[in-house]
Amino acid sequence: MELHFRDLSSHEEFQNFIKRAKDENKKLYLEIGYGSGIVLRKRVEKEVDVLHMGLEIKGKFVKKMKKYTEKYNVENLYVEKADAKYILPRFAAENSFDKIFIYYPDPWWKKKHKKYILFDYYFIADLYRALKKGGTLNIQTDVVDYFELIKSKFEYFNEFKECDFDDIVALENSSTFEIKGLEKGHVLSKIAYKK
Ligand SMILES: C[S@@+](CC[C@H](N)C(=O)[O-])C[C@H]1O[C@@H](n2cnc3c(N)ncnc32)[C@H](O)[C@@H]1O
Repeated sequence: MELHFRDLSSHEEFQNFIKRAKDENKKLYLEIGYGSGIVLRKRVEKEVDVLHMGLEIKGKFVKKMKKYTEKYNVENLYVEKADAKYILPRFAAENSFDKIFIYYPDPWWKKKHKKYILFDYYFIADLYRALKKGGTLNIQTDVVDYFELIKSKFEYFNEFKECDFDDIVALENSSTFEIKGLEKGHVLSKIAYKK
């Protein structure tokens, strides 16, 4: 079988945007799995002095967000089609982000799909590494059992301390999956942790 090597250069832009925040001495926020991107766009438009990044595994959402940045000449946002679990530990420098947001992550209830669940111990450690000291991780979900699972995993990490949810934009605007959850009568939960 022919060997296929990963194209590591394709993540240069991702790394350069992180570096840009350092060079320009700007805050840097990251949303993982932004989906239709309602909240990400609102945040980009409200927090203009901040540099924003978005990681999304589905190409159609990345295309849509790239169209938006091109149409409105948005310079404070960079999005990439990538699996956050792959790219964060390999290409995000330590102490990069002031805030990370993960809203309504997909739950994987089937046993054989458990390996795809976003919040495993390695990923939590990767998030910790990528956050700046004092940086926050904001999480929302409409799945009560998933919320409990997330909390139980964070309890293992003494380094993360629970803190106030600090994404004003998400408090003022509902994401697509938040709206869906509300329509289904789900309980919405939010939590935040500080490094
Ligand atoms: C249930 S949707 C929520 C979308 C959006 N945050 C919202 O609240 O409407 C979960 C999103 O996470 C994305 N996603 C899942 N796993 C991911 C990963 N490992 N890296 C990046 N994005 C991921 C999916 O493609 C999907 O768009």
